[in-house]
Amino acid sequence: MSQAVNPGGNADGDSRRDFLLYATATVGAVGTALAVWPFIDSMNPAKDVMALASVEVDLSPVEVGQAITVVWRGKPVFVRHRTEKDIEQARAVDPATLPDPATDDERAIHKPEWLVMIGICTHLGCVPKGQKPSDPKGDYNGWFCVCHGSHYDTAGRIRKGPAPLNLPVPEYAFLDDTTIQIGQEA
Ligand code: FES
Repeated sequence: MSQAVNPGGNADGDSRRDFLLYATATVGAVGTALAVWPFIDSMNPAKDVMALASVEVDLSPVEVGQAITVVWRGKPVFVRHRTEKDIEQARAVDPATLPDPATDDERAIHKPEWLVMIGICTHLGCVPKGQKPSDPKGDYNGWFCVCHGSHYDTAGRIRKGPAPLNLPVPEYAFLDDTTIQIGQEA
């Protein structure tokens, strides 16, 4: 089962985003609760974390406008419960004009309100900002990689800066209305 490791505080002021940090769960015969941030910060995950083939995440606590970061195979996975405005902004652009063309439906592949993607910049591998309430979100209200200035939009598509590609969308599925499984069972 999923477990909240480091719940974030409620959003205050201008930002309406709350952020929970989740790690979790059951893979193959072994379920392990993970200490998340050390692995993200070092990007040098322990072998047992690397071995996790899939992660189940309970999205029910994640309200509209909130985001969580999940560790899967040692990588941070960004999950954002998008607002109507987020979706509208993502759909307002002609995909053909983008550096890495993709429609919003190709990014939020199961439900428009849920965006799930690997949170590693496609330039040189930094973890972009945009998950925490205090983070800069770039010029397109998505994520901003401070390393060399890549801006991602509310669909995680690269819009400006040196990154060549969109943030990757991992394989995942909804197990029910509020639970996703990222990856496959071992
Ligand atoms: S690693 Fe993200 S902009 Fe260079």
